[in-house]
Amino acid sequence: MSQRKICYLDNNATTRVAPEVVEAMVPFLSEFWGNPSSSYLFGKQVAKHIEAARAQVAALIHADSREVVFTSCGTESNNSAIHAALVTHPGKRHVLTTAVEHSANIKFCEYLQKRGFEVTFLPVEPDGSLDIHLLEKSIRPDTAIVSVMWANNETGVIFPLEEIAAICRSKGVLCHTDAVQTPGKLKINVAELGVDFLSLSAHKLHAPKGIGLLYIKRRTKYQPYVIGGGQEQGRRGGTENVANIVAFGRAAELAIASLSDENTRIRALRDRLEKSVLAAIPNTFRNGNRESRLPNTSNISFDLVEAEGILMLLDQAGICASSGSACTTGSLDPSHVLTAMGLKPTRSRGSIRFSLGIYNTADDVDYLLQHLPTIIAKLRAVSPVAPHNGAAVHAKHSKAAKYPITS
Ligand SMILES: Cc1ncc(COP(=O)(O)O)c(C=O)c1O
Repeated sequence: MSQRKICYLDNNATTRVAPEVVEAMVPFLSEFWGNPSSSYLFGKQVAKHIEAARAQVAALIHADSREVVFTSCGTESNNSAIHAALVTHPGKRHVLTTAVEHSANIKFCEYLQKRGFEVTFLPVEPDGSLDIHLLEKSIRPDTAIVSVMWANNETGVIFPLEEIAAICRSKGVLCHTDAVQTPGKLKINVAELGVDFLSLSAHKLHAPKGIGLLYIKRRTKYQPYVIGGGQEQGRRGGTENVANIVAFGRAAELAIASLSDENTRIRALRDRLEKSVLAAIPNTFRNGNRESRLPNTSNISFDLVEAEGILMLLDQAGICASSGSACTTGSLDPSHVLTAMGLKPTRSRGSIRFSLGIYNTADDVDYLLQHLPTIIAKLRAVSPVAPHNGAAVHAKHSKAAKYPITS
């Protein structure tokens, strides 16, 4: 694998595993590798480290440890919450969600539709915000669950979760939130939020991929989605991924310690990045509400160029970012998030997401600013859609996107 220096501006896709986290997890790969469900001490001793990690992640979200179920990822957590609501309320066959959710939610809802359930995908405003009056009106007597993300992975736009959860409570409907993009960026207090379910994924928080959690509020009816052994108090089958669980716990502990300082620093870096790009490059536009968004995310459209070209040239300079193209499909369909916000395909196809993290410094922003204006100018000079190049307004789009958004 390439060891060249990278300027990593794609922290909403995944984050570097913190050295402290690696250190914490290694003993559970090399030394304490027993099965926590075993009857002998060698296995059993591992179980207490799972519980310590559970307490650490519970502290991150201000929950009781017993309300935390470890899963394999954010996707599983989202699927599990919606599944549980439908299974425990067999008379209710409607799910209310939004058009800008991550595919971990949207695809599962589409799967449910094919199996006869009804799903409403709420539209969003041009700035990516949600009309909560519309949400309230869309709750039906047969709605089993309202599932809305807290912060959008592409734009960083934050939905007013407390208000949404209050509406759900007043209507007696379960409320789930995909909070995968929020740890380390927002303070999470499940009691204040008032949600019934909340999903997290450790790889967005400087822990490894392949571990997530589902918060299940006490006394909420639940049925497991992954059925097998009685692990996680019967709420999730499968031998525990001990090293990753320990890693998640340590990452949570680090995040609690650095939350406010890091966010102030990262927000300032992000604001400088965004302001400088918008000032230095003509015909560029920020996507998403400026105020109500994550402190680390900036989504910018560059008129008359394709994101794929920008990402390719950024990559050549060692800069990692993502485009607003569809996640994982390998197609260059415009981002469903930007489309739902009403962006024309020509504009959304030229959009890039920059997302900063704790390891970014001012040097990274300087390095981007050193390269990006030249890259855009170069691409615009040869753009088939630039009027000065005398070409048609509609560009052809390759179906084999090499640089789709990873979120
Ligand atoms: C908002 C959001 N939800 C869910 C997911 C899925 O999480 P995971 O990769 O752990 O399945 C991601 C990231 O990939 C995300 O950004």
